[in-house]
Amino acid sequence: MQVQNIYDSWRAANVFIGWQFFVVFNLHSKYIRLSNWTDLGSIGNDPSMQQPYNESTRIEDLLAERLVRYAELRPCTTAFIDTRTPGSAEKENFTIIGPGVTESPDQYVHIEIPHGFNIGGARQPPDCVNSQHSHETAEVFVVHSGRWVFCLGPNKEDGEVVLGPGDTISLPIHMFRGFKNIGNDVGFLFGVLGGDDPGHVTWAPNVFDNAKEYGLILLEDGSLVDTTKGETIPEGKRPMPPTTEADVARLKRLTAEDLADCVLPHDKLKPVRASGLPEVSEAPIIGTASPDEGLGEGQMTWSHGFHLRRITVAPDGVTKKHTRAEEEVILMYKGQLSIDIADGSVELGPGDVFTVPIGVPRRFANRGSELVEAYVVRGGDHPAAATIVD
Ligand SMILES: [Fe+2]
Repeated sequence: MQVQNIYDSWRAANVFIGWQFFVVFNLHSKYIRLSNWTDLGSIGNDPSMQQPYNESTRIEDLLAERLVRYAELRPCTTAFIDTRTPGSAEKENFTIIGPGVTESPDQYVHIEIPHGFNIGGARQPPDCVNSQHSHETAEVFVVHSGRWVFCLGPNKEDGEVVLGPGDTISLPIHMFRGFKNIGNDVGFLFGVLGGDDPGHVTWAPNVFDNAKEYGLILLEDGSLVDTTKGETIPEGKRPMPPTTEADVARLKRLTAEDLADCVLPHDKLKPVRASGLPEVSEAPIIGTASPDEGLGEGQMTWSHGFHLRRITVAPDGVTKKHTRAEEEVILMYKGQLSIDIADGSVELGPGDVFTVPIGVPRRFANRGSELVEAYVVRGGDHPAAATIVD
């Protein structure tokens, strides 16, 4: 509630969130410290922005527009300024919903429908590094596979945390973060960025230095010039000025206490049977409490522009047909989830992503023998109950 009051006050005053808030961050509770590091804007929840789905919508159209199979993900290996730097060259970047923050025109966007947030992914072999950078909107990772270390600070000096499968981390805006696969196998992370346009990445100073040695120049508009391909800086464009120490000094530094507030391990999830849909247990991760569903607040309650839960469905579990007033994006973790929707059904397996449109009736079912576990991103900061339609 405290976070919401801050958020509402901000909106009412229409005050630009800027560096002047830094002093405030260090004075109060985790909500005060972290709640101003928000992203705003959720046009994905505005029905007028949605695709025109209705009773005659066919499942073929939904699947073509809103399903991305893990096996069909299209990676980009040249998405960012550090992609030639040894140790980072083998990383694969995915933009599943929305444009993300890629710096490469070669990045393929699977689903362009505005949701008010972006869904992406990162796949990296052992020891592969994602360099230190900062974002203008919230950044959340759910570990699908592998063992990862997340490091904070411009030179990784502000602390680190190790995450494994099913763990979640939410990284506040305007602070340096990076991550590395420290497992023995290729690992995959689901990523969620706030807003329809998450803006550009701010790289730590040493990232610019390293990139220059390998022929990549980042421009002010966020795109890359690859001098090893004979590319030159286009007329009228200018290189991005490297991040300075003064820039670094303006960014937030997290403490160990802050970092603990930003992580929710898989074994700390607290599933609750949601009112109206008792066949589904929902564990809040990001978002405020939802009394209508009988669910408490998540570990992270500051504004992200979306909320996140882990849902489970036991074998033979079948929900009633229901709708939601928000976009609902399913990130599959384990098991096989059937969704009856429109004039058909779709079965989702680990790594698949399906986004269910606002207002379209859907029924979830586990017709397999293994527990279904999925992470669900829904629009807006405040969870609401589903509407039962049968
Ligand atoms: Fe990032």
